[in-house]
Amino acid sequence: MIVGAQWGDEGKGKVVDLLAERGDAVIRFQGGNNAGHTIVRGDEVFKFHLIPSGILYPGKPCVVGNGVVVDPRVLTDEIDGLRRRGVDLSGLRISANAHLIMPYHLLLDQAGEAKLGKREIGTTKRGIGPCYADKASRLGIRLQDVLDEKILKQKITAAMEPKRQTLREYEKHPALDLHTMTEDYLAFGHRLETYIADTPPIAWKALEEGKLVVFEGAQGTLLDIDHGTYPFVTSSNPVAGSACVGAGVGPSSIDEVWGISKAYCTRVGAGPFPTELHDDMGARIQKAGGEFGTTTGRPRRCGWLDLVALRYAVKVNGLTGIVITKLDVLRGVETLRVATRYTGPDGALFDDFPYHQSVLHRARGDLVDLPGWTDDITGARRIDDLPEAARDYLAFVEEQLGVPVVMVSVGPDRDQMIWTEAAERVRPAAA
Ligand code: IMP
Repeated sequence: MIVGAQWGDEGKGKVVDLLAERGDAVIRFQGGNNAGHTIVRGDEVFKFHLIPSGILYPGKPCVVGNGVVVDPRVLTDEIDGLRRRGVDLSGLRISANAHLIMPYHLLLDQAGEAKLGKREIGTTKRGIGPCYADKASRLGIRLQDVLDEKILKQKITAAMEPKRQTLREYEKHPALDLHTMTEDYLAFGHRLETYIADTPPIAWKALEEGKLVVFEGAQGTLLDIDHGTYPFVTSSNPVAGSACVGAGVGPSSIDEVWGISKAYCTRVGAGPFPTELHDDMGARIQKAGGEFGTTTGRPRRCGWLDLVALRYAVKVNGLTGIVITKLDVLRGVETLRVATRYTGPDGALFDDFPYHQSVLHRARGDLVDLPGWTDDITGARRIDDLPEAARDYLAFVEEQLGVPVVMVSVGPDRDQMIWTEAAERVRPAAA
């Protein structure tokens, strides 16, 4: 199980891509096209928003699980784009129970943010929150519904009814016309039909046969609607427990839970960020790390590595390993800093992630200095290849978190990855 241990954008796509090579199935379990994964294959760059990264391995079962919210326009575009590039999509399966993002969800997301004004969440405006809200209200439209015109029309009518007031300013919006919407979504249903499936049995069968199933999370622990920095969160549960719900398997099936973390911290959108840098160092990390969103292109806020938040992520996810990405980005920073605890608004020190919003919003990282390195580490393939300061940095992280660093990414290419002994167990046979 691969989950984000920070605020998303940790580089999960690359790790999933590498594990998928050896894996027998890849299953995405939550989120929607608010996510974006970039996969580099030689000279080719692939960007995915919905389809699991494993799709680049011909015929590999790649599942969009029931916990994902699907914008069928985005999904069909993604399918068309991959087809044009000659990618074999025969392994793609989409849960019939996945909920669909409807045109009114997009408008509600925009309207909700506009109404909040300065207090906005900074959502990706992809309709994610309103879609999950409808799911919880039992007013959602699921993929199976677009295969039946009568049911679809009834459900859209029922879903629109309580939204009339909020959507009044969009009353005449062409996207909200019942007939157009029904026709469009029936057409999407028609195009997606071959991929629609009852997906949990795919996972059960693979697990029963002792195969490697990779569960691919989106966003990150601190964006979790229950455990993150609410209300500045997404509307799903990116934590590990949610993989079982969003894919339809029991927790006893899971052997490994790896949290992915950058060697520093980033966040897109509003909300607390105790180690945020507002100075030249923040700008330097942003530039060196290319920290601009895959989905919205927004610049990411940057800061030092936050070990208080990571210790919290270890607990809420039950992490068995941590993957550190983008270690190469820190090259040349003379003194690296990491937060091992927080200083609260009244000077009190916090070893643990504060649950209270008023504390968290004003907490600042209490930073420890660690020596940096100047050597180019992009060619390192073993921990021993790293300069002493980089090894010490990783050892400090391990000691603080109490879980092993299982992989370290030292560049964007697939081969720019250090596999430690712990990760060798699932290493792709061909690598
Ligand atoms: P939403 O998921 O579009 O509702 O946005 C809610 C919050 O989650 C905003 O702060 C977004 O910037 C953030 N968010 C959503 N998806 C991602 C992601 O894939 N990476 C980083 N941040 C994300």
